[in-house]
Amino acid sequence: MAACSLLATGAGAVTLMQTPAAAAAIACSVDYQTSDWGSGFTTTVNVKNTGTTAIENWTLTYAYSGNQKLSSGWNGTWSQSGSTVTVKGADWNRSIAGGATVSPGAQFSYSGTNTAPTSFAVNGVTCNGGTTPTDPPTDPPTDPPTDPPTDPPAGDKVDNPFVGAKMYVNPEWSAKAAAEPGGSRIANTSTSVWLDRIAAIEGVNGGMGLRDHLDEALEQSGGEPLAINIVVYDLPGRDCSALASNGELGPEELPRYKSEFIDPIAAAVSDPKYAGLRITTVIEIDSLPNLITNAGSRPTATPQCDVMKANGNYVKGVGYALAKLGPIPNVYNYIDAGHHGWLGWDDNFGPSADLFAQAAQAEGSKLEYVHGFITNTANYGILKESYYTIDDAVNGTSVRQSKWIDWNRYVDELSYAQAFRQRLVQAGFASNIGMLIDTSRNGWGGTARPTGPGPQTSVDTYVNGGKLDRRIHLGNWCNQAGAGLGERPKAAPEAGIDAYLWVKPPGESDGSSSEIPNDEGKGFDRMCDPTYTGNVRNGNNMSGALGGAPVSGHWFSAQFQELMKNAHPAL
Ligand code: BGC
Repeated sequence: MAACSLLATGAGAVTLMQTPAAAAAIACSVDYQTSDWGSGFTTTVNVKNTGTTAIENWTLTYAYSGNQKLSSGWNGTWSQSGSTVTVKGADWNRSIAGGATVSPGAQFSYSGTNTAPTSFAVNGVTCNGGTTPTDPPTDPPTDPPTDPPTDPPAGDKVDNPFVGAKMYVNPEWSAKAAAEPGGSRIANTSTSVWLDRIAAIEGVNGGMGLRDHLDEALEQSGGEPLAINIVVYDLPGRDCSALASNGELGPEELPRYKSEFIDPIAAAVSDPKYAGLRITTVIEIDSLPNLITNAGSRPTATPQCDVMKANGNYVKGVGYALAKLGPIPNVYNYIDAGHHGWLGWDDNFGPSADLFAQAAQAEGSKLEYVHGFITNTANYGILKESYYTIDDAVNGTSVRQSKWIDWNRYVDELSYAQAFRQRLVQAGFASNIGMLIDTSRNGWGGTARPTGPGPQTSVDTYVNGGKLDRRIHLGNWCNQAGAGLGERPKAAPEAGIDAYLWVKPPGESDGSSSEIPNDEGKGFDRMCDPTYTGNVRNGNNMSGALGGAPVSGHWFSAQFQELMKNAHPAL
């Protein structure tokens, strides 16, 4: 979702109309919008039928005055010959009812000046001025268009699937929460369903499988719109920079990922029985960002991430998942976009967005199969800092020089998600993509929560004293002591944000604090050991983890209790 008005728009609206005698049936106006980043742009061309009779089999034509070159288009079939651009309606939107609008969009590259076209024609009838077209259109067209349908029928998807929808309550998590002292206060909160292994599709150890959840979602919906969020999490060589969530598939097992994991998921969610549900997906957390920050010449590189970068199986796996799930009319894909404490630095921000665009076009996927992105999944990054901003300085020194911020551009998830959304649009994603933020554990309330800014002795005293995110280091990620439940799931909370969700179910561990043998492929990562003094990825700081934690995904009662105690907003 997200208001297009947030974007830098190039040309303003060109709203003109005519009804020439030669084509009495056609009256149109065109609103041409762009989002431009200097060497390319995306455009949305809103074509409105201002008449009362439907325009059938529309073809839009217009011309550029510069060297604008088409890269890809959506919501119609786009082609270019010289400077002339032609867009034909797709199967599902080739009729524009009286008063209705279609919105084909496309991405172009260019150099020099990007002057907006001012003249548009629909079926040969120009939409600007009152001149009679020199070539009267053939009406009806002699050749009905024979283009193959453009998929997906993006028009079937709503802009923000969470608006006006109930949110699914996972009965399994709900029961565990309700069994905890005080847990009934939050047990009916929506949390995500994690497909973290092949067996999860049918249900692990007699537990609920994907279809069980979808059936239950139908029940809960009572025929009203309901959104159910599914985390798709089983890439080959999973979790290459850490050990706690290593998975079952080896680095080269892409064929199994496709046939045994993604294909059965796609088969289940595309069952017509579930067509009325809004099924949102979170695609492969912690995967693509690792290829940017933890591979190659970076000091943080790991051999495992180098392997996944070299074999391309993260990119291919994500592309395949999007390609299979994107065309399903009621499925909304959100790709994991790390968090501000990971991708907020300049070296990581743009390259990640460009990599996401590459993955979204791998293995037959298209950019339009991505509905948006999610930040902070299973992380602890604060939603909004209250007592300092990135623009503050102490005695003339920018807070960006503080140890905590360390030159990052962002201090919280909301500002990061909103800015990253715009960069993703520049990378080629649709201008109306929306962001999700996992707020399950970023509340940071309780007695340790600061109530005002830190002392202005130095940038460090100022930031450390006032920051709401109480972690020892921004790179700490495992079972953080002092964390609390964050904002409750909520649709459209801020501009550009489709929803706050509880994706990581509170009470489920991030990793064991000591080595615990298991049959899930999970390793022991010392970032989950409270006695660990750190590594290069957390600036060699203490891990900040709670002790006594079980293997990732397993119930961790002590953490659940602490999260409730430190909830912000408080329970
Ligand atoms: C684990 C998954 C688990 C998920 C949700 C991840 O850290 O690796 O097995 O399903 O957390 O708790």
